Amino acid sequence: MSDWVTAFAPASIGNVGVGFDMLGLALEGAGDKVLARRSDGTDVSVAEVRGLDGELHPYLSTDAKSNTASIAAQALWGAHGDGRGVELKVHKGVPLQSGMGSSAASAVAAVVAVNALLDEPLPTPELLAYALEGEKFASGGLHADNVAPSLLGGLVLCPQVLLPDVVQLPAPDGVSAALLHPDLQVNTAQARKGLAKSYSMQLWVEQQGLLAGFIAACGASDIELIGKTLRDVIIEPQRAAAVPCFGAVKAAAEKGGALGCSLSGSGPSIFALCRTAHARNIASAMEQACRSQGIGCQSWVSPMTAPGARIESS
Ligand code: HSE
Repeated sequence: MSDWVTAFAPASIGNVGVGFDMLGLALEGAGDKVLARRSDGTDVSVAEVRGLDGELHPYLSTDAKSNTASIAAQALWGAHGDGRGVELKVHKGVPLQSGMGSSAASAVAAVVAVNALLDEPLPTPELLAYALEGEKFASGGLHADNVAPSLLGGLVLCPQVLLPDVVQLPAPDGVSAALLHPDLQVNTAQARKGLAKSYSMQLWVEQQGLLAGFIAACGASDIELIGKTLRDVIIEPQRAAAVPCFGAVKAAAEKGGALGCSLSGSGPSIFALCRTAHARNIASAMEQACRSQGIGCQSWVSPMTAPGARIESS
């Protein structure tokens, strides 16, 4: 029997359009795996990092102090481990710099795997604070909108002011997410630095209203209200230009009947919430629009109740 524990953590949609840094949605169909086992050392080390092609990753670091997974794992192991060592293998399934919560998926899978090695594993929600240590390193900011849904699944409200507490929101009936990943990269840390530092009262009030309305709409499964409130008047206008296919993809999603469409996290991925019956067609229309701009892409359709991280084998 193998002494490796394998954990899987899903990709996620950051911001969900209306909730910059405080709303996240787990995505079914893509995720990272982290394998963990006890080792002879005294700390967490990284034995290998493999990319989407299964080959050793050309540049993701195996230096434990520079790897999102090991930073998160070390935070947990340092606080609750037995002083011996842990070795990790990181197998990427989420494209890097994709806006799909790639670093969060690695950090979450790492803490879930290492938690299983503890004599007394912590309850899953308590792992959030440790996973956030890895995410902080990767994105240069404290935001849980990828880590929280990747860990817990579904739609999660996670404003910084409440952390490490988060609120799992009810997913509306009959609504799914379509996510398009164009073959482009956006560095989240850079994208965050480029954002304006202050905003008008008018924009702030408008965005608050949209977020409040969207959360109420999800709770009531009010599809019309989701369609009215899934808008970002603050961040999307500043980031859209960095994703050359954004306008065409959003127009295609809206033409196909999407309830709303925006960047996932800092992009380049673009998501749309859709009536479930329309979601596949909308994802295809988004793909077509992206390819018509000369940019290759991949898409996923996911329920809004996608499960969070889990142990796959131990
Ligand atoms: N909330 C973060 C941002 C998510 O938009 O910068 C990054 O994936």
